[in-house]
Parts: sequence; structure tokens; C-alpha cells
Amino acid sequence: MTKASNIPIENNIQVCPTQEQASITTAHLIADVIKSKQELGEFAVLGLATGNTPKLVYQELVQMHKNQGLSFKNVISFNLDEYHGITPAHRLSYHRFMRTYLFDHVDILPENIHLPFGTWELNKIEAHCAAYEAKINDYNGIDIQLLGIGRNGHIAFNEPGSPFDSVTRLIDLHPFTRNDAADEFGGLDKVPTQAITMGIHTIMNAKRILLLALGKRKAEIIKKTFESEMTPQIPATFLKARPDIEYIFDTEAASLL
Ligand code: GLP
Repeated sequence: MTKASNIPIENNIQVCPTQEQASITTAHLIADVIKSKQELGEFAVLGLATGNTPKLVYQELVQMHKNQGLSFKNVISFNLDEYHGITPAHRLSYHRFMRTYLFDHVDILPENIHLPFGTWELNKIEAHCAAYEAKINDYNGIDIQLLGIGRNGHIAFNEPGSPFDSVTRLIDLHPFTRNDAADEFGGLDKVPTQAITMGIHTIMNAKRILLLALGKRKAEIIKKTFESEMTPQIPATFLKARPDIEYIFDTEAASLL
């Protein structure tokens, strides 16, 4: 195992009093990237996440689009992951999630949206994943990557055991992750067993990375991540390899630090 970083990561932690304020802070950091790229006449390449955590972030970005004229015309998006074996139309697909919470409400161009597909045929997944990586590189990498964290320390769907040099691939979901999703799927048996996910290496290549964690449920894993040395057993610990990662928490998520 690699030794834990001694860098004072506290400098990169913002603790906000409420979930709403943490989300608004995050949305503004993303909007600032979009706007500064617009001023340069360049694309803003966003790495986007799903789950409960970014919902208010997207809500705030939609508000900025509607009330302050924030345009997404220069945005290229790459999502972190998608469940394997479900169609984009499935009510719990990440394609659907992104349309519901962000894409349907802003002026992003459909051709600029990228997500892995849960419908990729097994024998073609490797090629599709390699093409996904290549596409990110074609745009010169991700300018700003938004991350949540799973309660077992996964980032995207990089489950415990994911190596530091992993790239976009098919992965088996951890029982813990499937359990966490059981309620919304209407039973554990209905939760997909696999997913396509960007790898740790893919994520770490982003020019800027924001990790957002909200609520009491995340306090334990945030504490573990910060206290542990880098280990594939807690994939989020790999973020310590990048001292510039920005952590945004609400008081509850940060309560055990
Ligand atoms: C899923 C997603 C992750 C997300 C995690 C946490 O597993 N693949 O990208 O960070 O859940 O979800 P939530 O934000 O709902 O707690």
C-alpha cells in the first residue's frame, strides 16, 4: 500500500452549514469553469456524476441557466458511469437521471453529451470503453470532474479492489452498493449486478476534481477515507495522490473529521 499523503488536505476542504449551501457552492465552481471557457471561446469539458448527492447542484445550474442566462452551448459532458443491462429509457438509468435533473432543462447540445450505455453488447464493451476514453482525450481531458462517494468508498462505480491504474470498464457491483440501491429498484433482485464505470486513472486525469459529500450517512466513510492510507479497498483514498482535489461537505458529512 502507498503511504498516506502528508499534504494538509484541510486546506482544500470547504464545510458548508447545509446541504443546500454545499450544493450551491459546487454549482458555482462548475458554472465558473463554463463561463471562463466561454470567454476564451473554448469548450468546457465536464465530468458529471449521478446519485442523490448532485441533485441540488444540477438544480442550481438549471436555475442559473433560467435566471442568469448561463449557457451550456460550449459544454461537453462525460458521465462517470451507467448500470449495465438497462436501457437509457429505464426509469433508473443514469441517461434518464441526467435528462431529468439537468440536460432537459438547459441548452446543452445533444451531440455533446456522453454517457456509457447499459446496452453495450458484452463482446463489444471493451472496444466501447476504449472509445469512451479516447473521446475524453480528443477533447483534451476533463476540465472539472464532479464526484460523489459511495458508503463503501467507491467513486463512480470503482468498487473496493479497483486498482489505481484502472480505466473505463465493466465492473461487478459490490453487495453493499447493490443493497444501497435496492429500495429504489424495488428489491435487491432487481438491482443490476454490473456497471460500466470510468476508472480511477480516468478520473485522476481530470484537470480539476470536486468531491461532494452530504449528510450523516457519509460521515463514516469520509472519516475512513481521510484517516486511511491509500488502498484499493477504499478507492476514494486514491484521491490523496492529488493534493489539489477540492472537498465540499455539509456539516453532517464532515461531523467525524
Ligand atoms: C452510485 C454512483 C456514484 C455515487 C454513489 C453515491 O454508486 N455510481 O457515482 O457517487 O452512488 O450515491 P449517492 O449520491 O446517492 O449517495
